[in-house]
Amino acid sequence: MAYKVRFVEPNVHYQRMKAEIDGTIQDVLGRGDLIYRKDLKQFEQNLADFVGTRYAVGLNSGFHALHLSLIAAGIGPGDEVIVPAHTFVASVSAIVLVGATPVLVDVTEDYNMDMDAMERAITPKTKAVMPVHLNGRICDMERLMAAAAKHNLIVVEDAAQALGATFKGKMAGSFGLTGCFSFYPFKVLGALGDAGIVTTDDEEIATKIARLRYNGEDRETGEYHYHGFSCLLDNLHAAVLDVKLRHLPQWLMRRREVAELYRDGLSDVGDLRLPHFAGDAYHDIYQNYVIRTPQRDALVSHLKENSVETLIHWPKPMWEHKGLGLETPQCPETEAICREVVSLPMNPEISDENVAYVIETIRQFYA
Ligand SMILES: Cc1ncc(COP(=O)(O)O)c(C=O)c1O
Repeated sequence: MAYKVRFVEPNVHYQRMKAEIDGTIQDVLGRGDLIYRKDLKQFEQNLADFVGTRYAVGLNSGFHALHLSLIAAGIGPGDEVIVPAHTFVASVSAIVLVGATPVLVDVTEDYNMDMDAMERAITPKTKAVMPVHLNGRICDMERLMAAAAKHNLIVVEDAAQALGATFKGKMAGSFGLTGCFSFYPFKVLGALGDAGIVTTDDEEIATKIARLRYNGEDRETGEYHYHGFSCLLDNLHAAVLDVKLRHLPQWLMRRREVAELYRDGLSDVGDLRLPHFAGDAYHDIYQNYVIRTPQRDALVSHLKENSVETLIHWPKPMWEHKGLGLETPQCPETEAICREVVSLPMNPEISDENVAYVIETIRQFYA
């Protein structure tokens, strides 16, 4: 179905960037620089500078950023890792696939980890905590880092949805041992396919992840230090991401503008709950604009009938996917969120007119 308002507009995005993207692709292909070349190094440096860490290591996905972070940090069988129940499956899969036990804790109304629940979940087996900065908003990292310091826990930040978000002026991905980002095409910084990166201040961890991504090899010496993986960020992707990174600050501003338009148009509407939360410490970048209502399913149908594309992140709790083999935790807020949330079209390309149309369509539903 052709929607009047699409959730994201990758074709419009490309048309606006066409000259720069095409020029970059031609330049890289013309040089024949496909694997492990200067564009990768340059993007890693620029991304590390943006986040404010010493190192960044480019990978082919956000999942591998999490997975290799956990391996490099020495997390494995017998270890518990605390993670919010309301997150993308990849956060939890990364923990399971290193042989550790994910301990799922509930979230609060801003969709981020409940810090009381996180502290209650700490046991002698807890080795790490994985805060997930969901929808472009950072967790309360002051409280999380204090708890981690007190209990000697490793912090691996899942910042896949939060590039450019800050807490007390500090960027997502610069608090923990590592920060893990995704450049899935519809993230705030999107590649031409999937891609990801790890940020860190720790030289040893950066070196280890750089080897793990390339079969365990040290590229300088040719020595294989361990059995590794094959999940390097392609040079061509890195070159395109580097071009896009220059535009990111403007795109994030536009996302915040769109969020304000939604806020102005929807703040007095029925039982809707909007994603604007208290706290001057937070600078949110609206990876997703998530609204919440017990009438979610009817509202989604109404929007679809009126040609507005929406997405639900996520329609059922992870543990209800039986194939994942997860125990059912006590997470009533996550369960309610799965029943009640819907994400509205949010991207830098959306026009003010289309935002107004989405608002009007929602107001009609409630009228
Ligand atoms: C919160 C979160 N964690 C991890 C990931 C995994 O990233 P990728 O899809 O690049 O593997 C994503 C991406 O969708 C995500 O949203």
